[in-house]
Amino acid sequence: MKALILVGGFGTRLRPLTLSVPKPLVEFANKPMILHQIEALKAVGVTEVVLAINYQPEVMLNFLKEFETKLGITITCSQETEPLGTAGPLALARDKLVDESGEPFFVLNSDVISEYPFKEMIEFHKAHGGEASIMVTKVDEPSKYGVVVMEESTGQVDKFVEKPKLFVGNKINAGIYLLNPSVLDRIELRPTSIEKEVFPKIAAEKKLYAMVLPGFWMDIGQPRDYITGLRLYLDSLRKKASPKLATGPNIVGNVLVHETAKIGEGCLIGPDVAIGPGCVVESGVRLSRCTVMRGVRIKKHACISSSIIGWHSTVGQWARVENMTILGEDVHVCDEIYSNGGVVLPHKEIKSSILKPEIVM
Ligand code: GDD
Ligand code: MG
Repeated sequence: MKALILVGGFGTRLRPLTLSVPKPLVEFANKPMILHQIEALKAVGVTEVVLAINYQPEVMLNFLKEFETKLGITITCSQETEPLGTAGPLALARDKLVDESGEPFFVLNSDVISEYPFKEMIEFHKAHGGEASIMVTKVDEPSKYGVVVMEESTGQVDKFVEKPKLFVGNKINAGIYLLNPSVLDRIELRPTSIEKEVFPKIAAEKKLYAMVLPGFWMDIGQPRDYITGLRLYLDSLRKKASPKLATGPNIVGNVLVHETAKIGEGCLIGPDVAIGPGCVVESGVRLSRCTVMRGVRIKKHACISSSIIGWHSTVGQWARVENMTILGEDVHVCDEIYSNGGVVLPHKEIKSSILKPEIVM
């Protein structure tokens, strides 16, 4: 089987992290977002993944080369010369997606995290006999997603409305599709949206089916949702009694600590924390609901909550970093500084406190 991952877009909502690497390569729970997806695809027998990309394909391919051999999967790029939206890239990659087998193929948004129940989805797709399957999930705020109105018992979709202004329902498109090759005959090679132009038509012909996604789901393309997503992901590891979760007297709730990270004495870490490779957390540090990327140093008695600390940054002693503070790569927060929601661009030194949420350039 084959799969296409939509990796276009500039990831502006996840800046400043995406100023350093393309969004799909930003680590989530100590692993680049896209690797969570590629590993899950491999596990259900996908042999070739096509990355639909509209900028910096070399960065992506260079990075993923290592995993091609490790995972035994072929990863190729289909590069757009202009952004083709969420459907155009499928037309562009047509020859890579279709072969004589006539098998359906997966399409994923690159920024969604879940337990990727692809096996269940294949079974669902075979059973309904329609042309396309999509995963849906329930959310409290459906207006920022594609909303799906479906027949509960069969899953047949009545209506697909992208980002509705008025309430139509609370089941939303999770950005995970399984499509028959015939769907490609509906897509022209031009900038076009699968949500606005393709799904509504298949739904009108009663050939679109939706499956409610078991387990958690999150679009982690913006900081607040990224932090919530980490909590949900770690919860699911806990339910599976995963040995990846850290244990010990200084750990509270669900925490990931990379094996090469060093944690000092008297720290209190958790809940919902991921600490990346090579990090040094000095003594007496307090961390909760945060992600600390590769190579970060957190000095004595610093306190970090609800924040993301970018690669190779340092947080000074007795500093307090909270409320959706996002530090880009190589940022240095001086001793005793307070950051309340500061969004700090790469390579900055923060010498005075950030008292209210703002962008520091
Ligand atoms: N190759 C390529 N080219 N990819 C693109 C382009 C493009 O021009 N534009 C967007 N993408 C990719 C993004 O990188 C992302 O992986 C995916 O398409 C969806 O784009 P987003 O910008 O993240 O869309 P969204 O989050 O507002 O809405 C989409 O996702 C929701 C679920 O998270 C829609 O599919 C909604 O219906 C859905 O509910
Ligand atoms: Mg998104």
